[in-house]
Amino acid sequence: MVTLTIDGVKVQAEEGSTILEVARFYGFNIPTLCYHEELTPYGACRLCVVEVHDGRRIRLVTSCLYPAKEGIQVKTHSQRVVKGRKLILELLIARCPNSKTLQDLASKMGLEQVRFKMEDKDCILCGLCVRMCTEQMGSGAIDFVGRGQEREVVTPFRVPSEICRNCGACMYICPVVELQCRGVKSPRELCNSCLVITPHCVDKYDQVMCTLDSCGACVQKEEK
Ligand code: FES
Repeated sequence: MVTLTIDGVKVQAEEGSTILEVARFYGFNIPTLCYHEELTPYGACRLCVVEVHDGRRIRLVTSCLYPAKEGIQVKTHSQRVVKGRKLILELLIARCPNSKTLQDLASKMGLEQVRFKMEDKDCILCGLCVRMCTEQMGSGAIDFVGRGQEREVVTPFRVPSEICRNCGACMYICPVVELQCRGVKSPRELCNSCLVITPHCVDKYDQVMCTLDSCGACVQKEEK
């Protein structure tokens, strides 16, 4: 066991656990985007930054990757941390302004304006879909290619993958492409059971099935 301090509170943690795991266990709130407890941490979004003082220096680290160490002092909401998180969120929103997840985070974090040029991407490169496909679905049908501005998630050679089972788990976990079945009135619905409610998203995501609950309309139809 190691002993560390989070926001002035002394806590104990198992060796090998991350600051995020320890903080969440003790009820400290740290926002995350690319983290999922069932997937390997990736450290892509940097929204989970915290300030760590290890006795020699103070620095910002990604709490989903940084190990809880003996004697360190962690601040989850210092001025520097909050400022850093807001800047990161601004950049993410500028990239994907239509994401409800990002908009909700902005509202929670009190971010009122975005100073960067708005784009219209549908990926923040968080890697959740890639890890989900490989680690949970056992497929590995998609991966990152390219660097910097050119970086993106695609199937090998950009052709429909033979190992993709169209399970839709990648879309289910994606924080920006929110193709969720929200009932028959939704303009973007995608139903796991019937796929006949003319979902608009199917035009774009051809042959993809959603892992979410059925839309309800098909169930009602069957019952009649
Ligand atoms: S949640 Fe830690 S870097 Fe994204």
